[in-house]
Amino acid sequence: MDHKWILSERLSREVGFRAACLDYLDSVEADTDALHNRQADLLGEMGAHFIEKDAWETLSDTQPPKQLVHKRIILPLREEILSRKHGVIPPKSLIFFGPPGTGKTHFVKAMAGKLGWWFIEILPSLLMADGVDKIGANLRTTMEKVRKLDEVVVFIDEFEEIAASRDEASRIDRSITNEFLKQVPMLKKPGSKILLVCATNYIRQLDAALLRPGRFDCIIPVGTLDEEGRRTILQHYTSKIHARDIDMDLLVSLTQNFTPADIELLFQIIAQRSFEQEYEIRQECVVTTDAIISEISKFRPSLTPEMIEEFKQDALKYSRI
Ligand SMILES: Nc1ncnc2c1ncn2[C@@H]1O[C@H](COP(=O)(O)OP(=O)(O)OP(=O)(O)O)[C@@H](O)[C@H]1O
Ligand SMILES: [Mg+2]
Repeated sequence: MDHKWILSERLSREVGFRAACLDYLDSVEADTDALHNRQADLLGEMGAHFIEKDAWETLSDTQPPKQLVHKRIILPLREEILSRKHGVIPPKSLIFFGPPGTGKTHFVKAMAGKLGWWFIEILPSLLMADGVDKIGANLRTTMEKVRKLDEVVVFIDEFEEIAASRDEASRIDRSITNEFLKQVPMLKKPGSKILLVCATNYIRQLDAALLRPGRFDCIIPVGTLDEEGRRTILQHYTSKIHARDIDMDLLVSLTQNFTPADIELLFQIIAQRSFEQEYEIRQECVVTTDAIISEISKFRPSLTPEMIEEFKQDALKYSRI
């Protein structure tokens, strides 16, 4: 039998077939290790962190937009074969919009946890760190790094700061929005596992070109909580204070128009009060339903009827899901 002599990739000389195969596997392994090391370095440099899966469970099934995101984004990304079979294209770029404190950031983190992907936040302030003239260049470099990563949720909060409407913007703002318009399609390579999520309180201020189909796959409203949503969050924060026998139905009925951020702040106030009280009187102090109601009556929720109305109009005009 003829013995095949094959050129070794690593040694650049002819070796036996088995040796060449082993050598090839070694070099593939070394390449994969190097790739992983490069990715790990980049993840560290970009401040990536891993979110616990449990974060998803803190969202009630009715908290907007949990069901929608589950069906439209998480399932297609996780069930790749099934989604390919049915021609479903998983969304790669999203905008979340809604009033302050409605849980947009919390939601994006929970999504990353549910997917088991890394979470990276790109702060507009960091893009601005070298001066306004450099924002476009910084955005380009950051996105080049992002494209080298795999299984990441990339989050940009206060998106209007870098993607404001070009009609009213200065020359520099316009060039940043233009850069963004170039970068978004580049992140959406078929097969890539990068999900870009941008959040804003001011969807009306975003450049119309960014909102057109083809740039962002989904534009998702994140609005007020219904009773079930409030109940889940009230239970979450009640479990963190020193309380007993709380009438949850009553609290749910008294916290209409409260955002998650309002509920969190309310419970911080309650916790501080009971802590101070026990410190002063040196006797066990248990928070009661009445004590919580008393704080609720003094609390001004951040959503006004005008803000809710405005949000409803925006949801009708801008949502794409
Ligand atoms: N389901 C939830 N359970 C418990 N806490 C929550 C939940 N949703 C949001 N929160 C808390 O409410 C606060 C406000 O949420 P978040 O920061 O996500 O709001 P936001 O919409 O991003 O606000 P902004 O528009 O100001 O950026 C956060 O501290 C967050 O941890
Ligand atoms: Mg936020």
